[in-house]
Amino acid sequence: MSRTIIVSNRLPVKISKEENSFNLKVSEGGLATGLGSVYKQDDNIWIGWCGTEINDDDEKAQVIALLQKENLLPVFLSEDEILNYYEGFSNEILWPIFHYMSTYAQFEQKYWDYYQAVNQKFKQEVLAVAQPGDTIWIHDYQLLLLPKLIRDELKDVAIGFFQHIPFPSFELFRLIPWRAELLNGMLGADLIGFHTYDDVRHFTSSATRSIPVHATANIIQVADRNVLVDAFPMGIDAAKFESLTKDSKVQEEIANYNEILKDSKVILSVDRLDYSKGILQRLMAFEKVLTDNPEYVEKISLHMIVVPSRDSIAQYKELRDDIDKMVGNINARFRTSSWHPIHYFYRSFPVETLVALYSRADICLVTPMRDGMNLVSKEYIASRKDKGVLILSEMAGASKELADALIVNPNNLGEMYRAIIQAIEMPEEEQKSRMLALKDLVNKFDIHHWVKIFMDQLADIKVAEGIRK
Ligand code: UDP
Ligand code: G6P
Repeated sequence: MSRTIIVSNRLPVKISKEENSFNLKVSEGGLATGLGSVYKQDDNIWIGWCGTEINDDDEKAQVIALLQKENLLPVFLSEDEILNYYEGFSNEILWPIFHYMSTYAQFEQKYWDYYQAVNQKFKQEVLAVAQPGDTIWIHDYQLLLLPKLIRDELKDVAIGFFQHIPFPSFELFRLIPWRAELLNGMLGADLIGFHTYDDVRHFTSSATRSIPVHATANIIQVADRNVLVDAFPMGIDAAKFESLTKDSKVQEEIANYNEILKDSKVILSVDRLDYSKGILQRLMAFEKVLTDNPEYVEKISLHMIVVPSRDSIAQYKELRDDIDKMVGNINARFRTSSWHPIHYFYRSFPVETLVALYSRADICLVTPMRDGMNLVSKEYIASRKDKGVLILSEMAGASKELADALIVNPNNLGEMYRAIIQAIEMPEEEQKSRMLALKDLVNKFDIHHWVKIFMDQLADIKVAEGIRK
């Protein structure tokens, strides 16, 4: 039977060393949490970095053995590779450019050298396990060169590529000195997927304008092959979130929150630390709500979870300091002896706690400046019974589907302010009708549906190719 080999920079689990043994912890981020439910089927394998630098050969063997039980195969990255390929090229060039923050980009030749070398390293890991007939599904911007590297070596495999972050317009993408190489790398795939049609359009226009390829609608002709580029909006494991709301541990946590928070209105926000997430803008809007509406003092609170991420990169460190300052100022300005407006957590939480918070929160505030999809918005919906209000940035891929949310432009402070007030005051009937429509969507287009339509499309392409030959 043919297998699926998933390849991504980060595995769905992180390794941490405690005393002399290694432990596994679930990775954060949409790619890992989204696909986390599906990779364990059959003989599938997931290849990726285990999130920690490990140099000792005995320790590497221990980690390989530990991960093997979970169908995972680690790629070990050295300190220099982490610095130049992961932090450097991936997160100081591709991430800011693809999220329209071009002034944050640092175009270093060394980063590019390492990016190529590490993509080669991933190729070697794939070649070590791939067999004819396998499907190789490569994920995200850290591995843009990998589809072509694999195609040049293996003929009898299907190669899918999915990008979890936005693809920017050509005017942004063209800033990257190595743009043609990146596009050629991606076009090694048979099928290229993005979350939205805008990403598909941007990619197709960048490809036809930067390299000599021709596109007919969303089919790009590369030498003697056709590459299909399409939108596959990613879903979540909605059933898992819904059933977790009934879990006894989650119920206990919800009861606990109810006890502490009584009947105050809870606004929740959950993000990785990232300048793309609009965390400061959201704080400004919340501050304005309290400034202009003193009647809400002691009646509402913002629960803000920020998961530590990439904090060795300068802009992330600065953002963390800015958040600390702003939260401190708002709390100092509005707090009373028995209440403070912002409950700020700079750490990650197990999914059970997240579900308890999603269940308790009257409002979920998701306001990225740019986001490929944003799974938090969907997890909130899946964890609700019927009421609750989602405020969602139009810059998140999810806004294309979740039309019954209150859609806002995160650059428009007044609009975010008005949406928060509208959410606080929204009648229960309106909450219900919006939320039930959102739930239908999230339940129907879940992660299983997403995997199926991508895989079916890839299989159809291979069948059509076989007939043509
Ligand atoms: N998440 C988590 N632990 C936390 C907070 C968040 O595992 O303490 C998960 C959250 O459930 C979601 C993911 O991190 O699945 C964030 O994905 P999203 O698509 O919203 O943003 P990304 O981090 O991928 O940019
Ligand atoms: C986003 C990206 C993923 C990445 C995740 C966490 O979801 O699309 O590729 O894994 O963020 O970021 P990190 O740098 O910690 O892997």
